[in-house]
Amino acid sequence: MIETKILKINHNDAEKLKEAADIIKNGGVVAIPTETVYGLAASVYDENAVKKIFKAKGRPQDNPLIVHIGEPSQLYEIAVNVPASAEKLVQQFMPGPLTIILPKSERIPDIVTAGLKNVAVRMPLHKTAREFIKYCGVPLAAPSANISGSPSPTSAQHVYDDLNGKIPLIIDGGECTVGVESTVISLVGGIPELLRPGAITVEQLEEALGEISVNPAILEEANSNERVNSPGLLHKHYSPKTKVIAVKGSAEDFVRYVNARKDKSVCALVFEEDKDLLEVPFITYGKKDDYHSQERALFKSLRQIDYLKKDICYAQLPNDEKEGLAVLNRLLRAAQFSIINANNSFIIVGLTGKTGGGKSTVSRILEEKGAAIIDCDKVAREVLSEDNNLLGELSKEFGNSIIKDGVLDRKALASLAFKDKESTERLNLITHPHITKSVYSKLSELKNKGARVAVIDAAALIESKISEICDIIVVTHAPYEERLKRIRERDGLTEKEALLRICAQKDDDFYISKADYLINNFYPNSIEEQLKPLLKRLGL
Ligand code: TXA
Ligand code: MG
Repeated sequence: MIETKILKINHNDAEKLKEAADIIKNGGVVAIPTETVYGLAASVYDENAVKKIFKAKGRPQDNPLIVHIGEPSQLYEIAVNVPASAEKLVQQFMPGPLTIILPKSERIPDIVTAGLKNVAVRMPLHKTAREFIKYCGVPLAAPSANISGSPSPTSAQHVYDDLNGKIPLIIDGGECTVGVESTVISLVGGIPELLRPGAITVEQLEEALGEISVNPAILEEANSNERVNSPGLLHKHYSPKTKVIAVKGSAEDFVRYVNARKDKSVCALVFEEDKDLLEVPFITYGKKDDYHSQERALFKSLRQIDYLKKDICYAQLPNDEKEGLAVLNRLLRAAQFSIINANNSFIIVGLTGKTGGGKSTVSRILEEKGAAIIDCDKVAREVLSEDNNLLGELSKEFGNSIIKDGVLDRKALASLAFKDKESTERLNLITHPHITKSVYSKLSELKNKGARVAVIDAAALIESKISEICDIIVVTHAPYEERLKRIRERDGLTEKEALLRICAQKDDDFYISKADYLINNFYPNSIEEQLKPLLKRLGL
């Protein structure tokens, strides 16, 4: 452990700057303010000092560092074959929140660029940073001054929270005015390529350079086998300890989705304008249409989330992929690409098939994976025992023998109603409206409670027209002999009774033709295997 000092230094505090620069000159590291985020700096030419940066941050060795210069002429000291396009960018955006990737000079040790042939160059706008570099007399290699993986630091206190005891000095230059790391653009290939979005936007760069390409890993999870020009894109980033889940959708969708989960250990990261609608603890991060305010607040807010001590934080996303790209990129990474679409987050699955076809097995698996199940047999039983009007209607249709001691005799009703198709239809005509009504009210209850997937398990899904409100229809199927055997065992029926029940249903093709997913539930097929595509679609 070493003692970590925090020292407020202005760009014209010559004495203090000189003192701090001595640490660098003696092979040490110093945390410095910049307009984007705080950096942890060492002399770019001192391999040992640069190693101290990796060690203090716990940074993977394959992630290269940005080299910070104090004046434009230093660019030619660290980069070679500098193209005209780079000079254009230097003129327009430097000093400022932009980093340019160029072919590296041989003077730069491999550890700085993680073995790459190119070097990242940036000239900060922050005056203290630039003055400090001048006092050091050399360009400074500096990544963000956080523990690797945690949100980047936008104040001296953030650096202290992460690196106390590991570095000798933090230069306090106030809160960062930009708040997200610099835009990174590579000029070493053909078309200039955006590797990291920042406050300087794609549109600004296009205006200066013409066409630029955007690295796909900015908004999508990079597969480590894919070619990724910027190794930083592969690493875990910006994550607080609380699990962050990014939520897509309108403000109303977001609020509804989050409030539905208020009984759980959750909090939210939300724009100023929508915070008052929330019924869970929250942290705000800027205003909806003011992207710079979001950038400024984001990392501080990501750090504050942990103070709420919740299991999950739902994060509202910026509603624009242009100016909002930098924030979107950081939030998706903070969420490790856990994204939920709040506007179609409630999916209704209808599960049907002929009796004995294995519906309950499928329903049990879906339930285990987290779906909410509405079992229509159960609903029917509830409705039949609770609804006296229904009982009256049924005895009118099937006679008084279905009532014993004032309550429904289910067996008696079954033997009458399932004896032929026509009787089954008469039963359905009476019961379906009652069952349907109850199913609909259960669905809205589940939706309000925040369920994501509801499965309606119903033999008569299609006949009752409940199928019309389902997003997906799953049909289970098994050969006739197999079904006969199953329902005899399950319901203790004679062969004749079982046969009658099967024949009272529509034939196989009727179900199969309606299926979005057909599950063949008989030996030797694996139900789990067959359910995989469905589970993937449901996000379960
Ligand atoms: O705003 C910023 O850029 C801040 C402040 C301190 O200047 N610095 C910063 O550094 O964000 P860092 O190390 O956290 O991010 C550097 C990223 C790397 O993850 C990598 O994506 C890219 O810049 N990078 C650095 N050198 C590179 C190279 N030679 N080729 C490609 N990408 C490089
Ligand atoms: Mg970083």
